[in-house]
Amino acid sequence: MNLFGKPAKVLLLLLISGSSYAQQQNTITVHAAKDKTTISKYIYSHFAEHLGRCVYGGFYVGDTSKIPNTNGVRNDIVAALKKMKIPSLRWPGGCFADTYHWKDGIGPKDKRPALVNKWWGGVTEDNSFGTHDFLNMCELLGTDPYLAGNIGSGTVQELADWVQYVGSDNKNPMADLRRENGRDKPWSVRFWGVGNEAWGCGGNMTPEYYSNEFRKYSTFMTGDKLFRIASGANSADYHWTETLMKNIPSHLMEGVALHHYSVIEWNKKGPAVKFTDDQYFRTMKSALFMEELVTKHSAIMDKYDPQKKIALVVDEWGGWYDVEDGTNPGFLYQQNTMRDALIAGVTLNIFNNHADRVRMANLAQAINVLQAVILTDKEKMILTPTYHIMEMYNVHQDATLLPVEVSTKDYVFGNEKLPAVSVSASVDKAGVTHITLTNIDPKNAQDIDINLEGSAFKGVTGRILTSKSLQDHNTFEVPDKLKPVAFKDASVKAGKLKVKLPAISIVVLELKK
Ligand code: AHR
Repeated sequence: MNLFGKPAKVLLLLLISGSSYAQQQNTITVHAAKDKTTISKYIYSHFAEHLGRCVYGGFYVGDTSKIPNTNGVRNDIVAALKKMKIPSLRWPGGCFADTYHWKDGIGPKDKRPALVNKWWGGVTEDNSFGTHDFLNMCELLGTDPYLAGNIGSGTVQELADWVQYVGSDNKNPMADLRRENGRDKPWSVRFWGVGNEAWGCGGNMTPEYYSNEFRKYSTFMTGDKLFRIASGANSADYHWTETLMKNIPSHLMEGVALHHYSVIEWNKKGPAVKFTDDQYFRTMKSALFMEELVTKHSAIMDKYDPQKKIALVVDEWGGWYDVEDGTNPGFLYQQNTMRDALIAGVTLNIFNNHADRVRMANLAQAINVLQAVILTDKEKMILTPTYHIMEMYNVHQDATLLPVEVSTKDYVFGNEKLPAVSVSASVDKAGVTHITLTNIDPKNAQDIDINLEGSAFKGVTGRILTSKSLQDHNTFEVPDKLKPVAFKDASVKAGKLKVKLPAISIVVLELKK
C-alpha cells in the first residue's frame, strides 16, 4: 500500500497513464515516498556475451597484450565501468549461453578446446576467457556476476556442477577441481539464468515444456541464496509469462526475465547514425513501449505473486540497428548517438517507476555490441552517450523511489505522437533528492513546472547531456564531443521547481535543502 491507500501497482498505472498524450503543458508532481520502494541498483546492470568484440578485444585482450591489462582484462575499461557503477554483469550469453559448456573454459588455456561460435559470425572461440577469467574480472570491477546456464544443449548435471564449482566451500569433486585450477575460495555468485530465450535460440520450446525443464534444472541447483531467473518472454508474449507463473512453484524461482529491443522492424532496422526522422520516431515508440510491457507483465505476475516476491528481470534491452558498414554482420557492432542516450533515459525512468517489480535489468551489451556503453578500436576506447546516461542516472541506485505524476506535451510526428517528457525521482540514503528528466522532442524545448511534495528545497544543481542533432555521437577522433555539462536552467522558488529542458536532452537534478 502507499500514500493513496492503493496497491503500488494501481498507483503506478494511475501515475503513468497521466503521462500519456494530449496534454498541453508540462507539469510534474514529485510525491514524498510513503511506501519505501527501493530502486534496486541491479536495474543498472549490463550484459557481456561471447559475441563480436564484446569479450575478446572489448573486455579481454589477453595478458600478453601491449594494452595495459590485469590478467588480460583492459585496465581502461575497468576504470571506466567502475566510475559508471556497474552493479551486475550477465555472461556468457545470450544465445551463446545455450551452446556453452563451462568445462571447456577452465584449466590450462592451451588445453582448452577451440570451437566455432555458431550464433555469432562463425568465428573460432578458443575458450581463453572462461569461468575464472570472468569471475576474477567481476571482482576487479566490483560487480556481482550473473551466470547464464545452458539448458538448450546442456544437462541438469552440467549446470548443477557449475553451481558447485563456483560456489561450494565443501569437499566435493567440483570444489576440488576449482582448487586444482588455482582458486581456493569460492566466488560469490547469486544470480543464475536458467537458459536464455528458451522460446527461440535457447531451444525453441513451448512455455509449458520450458516450465517443466525449469523446475527440473532449478531443483538441482544448490547453494546459498541463489537467485534463479527463468528465461522470459519475447516482448509482448504475455502467454509466456502467464504459463511460467502458473506452472513454476515460487520456491524454485526468484526472477522471470523479459527481453525487449527498441527496433523498427527486424528485417528493416535502419542505420545507427544516418537515421531519418521517421526512423527516430519509430525507435522511440518502441523504446516507450517498455512502459506497457512492464505494466502488463507485472499485472500477470501480481495475479500469482501478489506479494511481489518474484522479480521481473529485463535482462536484455536497448536499441538494435544495422551493423556499421564493413563490419562482420554477426558481430552486431553499431555506433551510439543521442538517440541511444534518449532510449537509455526514458527506459531507466520506466524501470525506476516500476521498481516494485522490476528489480534487475541488463543493457545489451556492454562493449562493441548493440547499445554499448563503450566502443574500442585496438588500444583506443570511447565512452558513448549511453555510458554518460548510465553514469548520470547512477544516483538512483538503491535509492528510495519517489512516485511522480506527469502531464506532458506531445512530441508530434505526422499523425502520431509520443509523450515528450519522461521523469523519475528518488531520495538516496544520505537524504538527497534526485530527479532525472528527458525531452525526446527533436525540435521543441520544454518548460516544466515541478511541484515538490513533502520537503522544502532551497536550491537545485544539475547536469545535462544534449546536442544539436540526434545523430551526434562520439568518435575515436573526437571522443568527447558529447559529455555531460553543468545544467543552469533549473530554479526553485517558493517550493516550486522550474526547468527548461532543451530539445534532445537528458538532465539529472539534485535538490538542496
Ligand atoms: O544480444 C544479442 C542477442 O539478442 C542475444 O544473444 C539473444 O539473447 C537476443 O536475441
